[in-house]
Amino acid sequence: MSIYLDNGATSYPKPKSVEDTIIRSMTQVIGNVGRTSSTEVHTVEREVYNTRAIIARFFGFDPIDHVVFTKNITESINLFLNGYLAFGDRVIYTGIEHNAVARPIEHLKQSRGIEPILLGCNPFGQLDLSELEAHLRKGVKLVVASHASNVSGDIQQIAEIGKLCKTYDSIFMVDAAQSAGVIPINMKALQIDVLCLTGHKSLLGPQGIGAILIEPKVSKDVKPLIFGGTGSLSESLAQPELMPDKFESGTQNISGILGLGAAITWLNQTDLEEHLNYERRLIEKLQAFLDSQASCVRIGNPDAYKRLPVLSFYTKAKDISWIAYELGKNYGIHTRVGLHCAPLAHQTYGTYPYGTIRISPSKFTTEEEIDLTIEALSTILR
Ligand SMILES: Cc1ncc(COP(=O)(O)O)c(C=O)c1O
Repeated sequence: MSIYLDNGATSYPKPKSVEDTIIRSMTQVIGNVGRTSSTEVHTVEREVYNTRAIIARFFGFDPIDHVVFTKNITESINLFLNGYLAFGDRVIYTGIEHNAVARPIEHLKQSRGIEPILLGCNPFGQLDLSELEAHLRKGVKLVVASHASNVSGDIQQIAEIGKLCKTYDSIFMVDAAQSAGVIPINMKALQIDVLCLTGHKSLLGPQGIGAILIEPKVSKDVKPLIFGGTGSLSESLAQPELMPDKFESGTQNISGILGLGAAITWLNQTDLEEHLNYERRLIEKLQAFLDSQASCVRIGNPDAYKRLPVLSFYTKAKDISWIAYELGKNYGIHTRVGLHCAPLAHQTYGTYPYGTIRISPSKFTTEEEIDLTIEALSTILR
């Protein structure tokens, strides 16, 4: 028996329609986008275009040709930060960022002389908005924030940050790795200029596909990360400025793109809020159990309805790696232990360098699985 509670790392299972679409993409969708002229290829091009449209609509974004495919959010973030920031640029990032943000920023500081400003977060993973405003007033090119912490599930005040960025003419980039597919994101309403996504977490798509949605006023000032064949304007040795070709050199991951399209179509047919409330109820149950254990310390907002459905904890009584190992070995329960590639977040929560055990269910987790997890934990923690 296996109980999968590590959806923060990657979601499992996926909707059946995602699996079917990937098989169809390999057996029935013939050709390479922009590279040949047979009628089948037009089908591929149409399907890829339709997927861009599905993604754009899901995130309240246009124009469709500014939805750019990448292999994951790490590539989306690198594409943008590398292509956009220059010597002396001031960039704000937060105390809950994943290394997908923190490492490229550190690299660009060392290699290019950008000027990062790391703003601390409170114990609920949120920025102090007046501190942010004080910095913005002095002139900041870019603000980068995770919508939700992958360590605790805490949710950042994205709408308020977007508003401040507009007021002070700073560009706003959001890492939506954990929130996309869980809570609605409308880029226009939230005043997000650049949204970075990964397909394989709560969007329920396959691994190896991600995207970046980038406003035209920003994309024109971003240099590509990769140069090469696009199937367009081939007479010129210069990289096309045409979107999305500017950022999509080389053959794309058609199975991944169509699989992601199927996943978002599936999400569109379900009620996100209903799923979220269901998962939060599961988390509340686990949380009530952990709170009854004197040695366990939970991190993040104590109100499960103010976090993504994630539970992160440590215990002073036993080694957390051992607990996670026991859960896996004796009960087939998959969790994730350690720093979750987010040392900054663990510093914020006071759990650095050992980290926490993270439990992250999905829409497909059953109540019985949570009951079995509680049973297992009560034996292990005894
Ligand atoms: C907040 C956050 N950002 C970025 C990433 C990196 O995702 P990927 O490995 O799909 O690029 C993760 C993955 O755990 C994450 O949780």
